[in-house]
Amino acid sequence: MRKKILVGNWKMNNNLKESTSLVNDILSELPQNGVELVFSPSFVFLHNVVKLCKSYDNVFVAAQDCSEIQNGAYTGDVSAEMIKSCDVNYVILGHSERRNKYAETNYVITQKVNLSLSNNLKVILCCGETLEQREKKVHFNFIKSQISDTLFHLTTDQINNIIIAYEPIWAIGTGLTASKEQAQEMHAFIRKIIAEKFGSIFADNMSILYGGSCKPNNAKELFSQVDIDGGLIGGASLSKQSFIEILNSF
Ligand code: PGA
Repeated sequence: MRKKILVGNWKMNNNLKESTSLVNDILSELPQNGVELVFSPSFVFLHNVVKLCKSYDNVFVAAQDCSEIQNGAYTGDVSAEMIKSCDVNYVILGHSERRNKYAETNYVITQKVNLSLSNNLKVILCCGETLEQREKKVHFNFIKSQISDTLFHLTTDQINNIIIAYEPIWAIGTGLTASKEQAQEMHAFIRKIIAEKFGSIFADNMSILYGGSCKPNNAKELFSQVDIDGGLIGGASLSKQSFIEILNSF
C-alpha cells in the first residue's frame, strides 16, 4: 500500500542539543494521522535520534547521503553499512545539493543506491530540473534520465524499497514553489515511467514526495494532489511549529 510520508531534511543545521530537543518537541505533539515521519539529521547525530524515535511505530530516521564505496581508505566518508549499523532506516540520495555542489553524477548515485539497498536501507531518490530546463521544456526528459539512469537496473523487489522525491531545483530554499498543477503533472509523469518499467502495481505502491519550499501555507494543496504522497522538507523542518503544521496538512 502507498504510504504518506513526511521527511525533515535538516541539511547541515542543528547541533547535538538542538537536534535532540527538536525531535523531542515534535514527538511530544505527534498527531496520530497515519503519516510516516522521518527525521534526517547530520550523520553524527543519527544514533542519538534513532534512540529517541525507537519506541514510535511510525517514526524513522534517514541519513542525508552515503559513500559510493563499500569501505576502506576514504577519510571522512560514511558507508551505507555504517549507517545501517546505527539502526537507520532510510538514506536520501541524489539531492540536488550533492549533485551540484559535490559534482555527483548519476553513475555515482547509482553506486550509492546499490550499496544502500544491499545494506537494507530504503532509498529516497531525489530528482529535479533547473528553471532553465523547465523553460526550454526539456524537464520531463531530464527527470526521466535521472530516474532511468539510477533506478532502471533494479529488480522489482528492490524497487519496493525506493521512494522518489521530486524537488525542482528552482524551488529549493528559494521561497518559490511549484504550483500544485506543476507538481502533480511531474509526479504523475514519474509514476507513469515507473509503471512502464516495473508495472503499475509497483508504481501505484511507490510514495512520491514533493520538495522545494513546501511550507505550512502550501502543504495542504500540494498533499491533496493524487500523486503527491508527502514531502521532503528542508527549511520548514527546522522549527517544531512549522513541521507539525505541515504534518497536520495531510
Ligand atoms: P526547502 O528544501 O524545503 O528548504 O526548499 C527542500 C530540500 O532541499 O530537501
